[in-house]
Amino acid sequence: MSPEALATLESVVRLVWLAGAAAFVLGLMRMNSPATARNGNLLSAGGMALAIGGTAVLLAARGEAGLTAWIIILAGIALGGGLGLYTARTVKMTAMPQLVSLFNAVGGGAAALIAIDDYIRLSNVQTFAPGGAIPLQVAIPTVLDVVIGSITFTGSLIASGKLMGLIPGKPIKVPGGQLVTLALAVVVAVAAIYLWLGNVSVPILFVIIAASLTFGVTMVLPIGGADMPVVISLLNSFTGTAVAMAGFVISNDVLIIAGALVGASGAILTKLMADAMNRSVINIIAGGFGGGEGTVAAEGPEGGTVRSLGVDDAAIQLAYAQNVIIVPGYGLAVAQAQHGVRELAELLEARGVNVSYAIHPVAGRMPGHMNVLLAEANVPYPQLREMEDINPEFDRADVALVVGANDVTNPAARRAGTPVSGMPILDVDHARSIIVIKRSMGRGYAGIDNELYVNPKTGMLFADAKQGLADLVAAVKAL
Ligand code: TAP
Repeated sequence: MSPEALATLESVVRLVWLAGAAAFVLGLMRMNSPATARNGNLLSAGGMALAIGGTAVLLAARGEAGLTAWIIILAGIALGGGLGLYTARTVKMTAMPQLVSLFNAVGGGAAALIAIDDYIRLSNVQTFAPGGAIPLQVAIPTVLDVVIGSITFTGSLIASGKLMGLIPGKPIKVPGGQLVTLALAVVVAVAAIYLWLGNVSVPILFVIIAASLTFGVTMVLPIGGADMPVVISLLNSFTGTAVAMAGFVISNDVLIIAGALVGASGAILTKLMADAMNRSVINIIAGGFGGGEGTVAAEGPEGGTVRSLGVDDAAIQLAYAQNVIIVPGYGLAVAQAQHGVRELAELLEARGVNVSYAIHPVAGRMPGHMNVLLAEANVPYPQLREMEDINPEFDRADVALVVGANDVTNPAARRAGTPVSGMPILDVDHARSIIVIKRSMGRGYAGIDNELYVNPKTGMLFADAKQGLADLVAAVKAL
């Protein structure tokens, strides 16, 4: 191809990349509502197809990739794309955070590898032309990409291991605690400054990689209990930032834009989740999250009696109430009981009961989990009330009906020294009476007992959420 034709093609590909980036932005905007989210996802995937297609055309036109390179690229696309498609199609809604975490790990790891490869290549050139330094505008994003990408890689692997139950979910104390964090930070800072001063050294880059990989592990291991959503969101934001840095390293606009979008939206989500959970983002990074290293599992409620409730009694309480607040949680998602809960709510409303749903920001296993589930069952959106908005209304509620929620209702959060301490909860215990539908006295994600269940106002309706709701619907109809 003539140099003029190649220059024209390069301009066209840049425009294609820009179109891809615009599709990412528009796709992200469409995520704002459940009605347009699916479409937004497709639009963003289309943007990614444009970005990859444009890059492939450019690579072919420049003749930069030989046969082996093409085989590797195509095999990578087939393997990665195939695995992505398979997992996304087969994953259960309730296992989404683990999957997101694994995707974060590969995203961060891939971004770090781009910078490592680029650095090794540049350092080889240096040996042929000794004395020349790697320009600072490359050295800075290289180090940042390697640091953030490596932390994201190991941190996300540990997070998904915890969520899958491969690693204990409770906080795991790292020997040395924050001293180790500090030492790793100093090693990274000194090594980074060394490279930024114009020194070229692959071994020093590997020191940075090793320290960052270790930091990812020590950052996430001590995090447990109910705090995982914030850390996953933070690691998601890190992935985007690492990808943006990789874009700076290899001067690729579309990587910079895509990475910045993920980084910024992840950062906003992290801030929202951290505020909602009453946690500090700095504490997460420093490793003193939640109750910190001293965090211990809470003692279970002592001496209380659990009152078991029959379906008919529960149905009477609900049917003759004036105000009922439904509190959905992870168990509702597991049981896929969203249609049952809507049916019960409609029956109660037909009898003149005011029904609303109390949505805790981290109920379930992913941000917006309850909103998505209830939207799927066509629960009217105005009935879904956020925590701050609904909490004052529990005082006036005749019945709080808790369906498969646990940690988000645990009054232990109001005391110090428990894994959920400081986390705002739904004030379910302020209601005049409480009905809890769950299968057993089993614990929630944070792994601690719930004092709500021994509250004298609480009746436990032990059942699978779907079955329990179906029984309640039948019992209310029979009244
Ligand atoms: P959890 O505290 O996890 O409790 C769920 C309860 O549902 C369990 O105690 C379980 O009790 C019950 N359950 C399970 N299957 C059931 C079924 N088929 N029918 C009825 N009940 C069932 O839920 P939550 O209150 O929604 O709190 C969420 C927790 O997950 C928080 O600690 C949060 O920090 C954490 N987390 C959240 C996210 C996001 S972003 N939302 C991500 C990761 C972790 P039984 O076994 O007795 O039935």
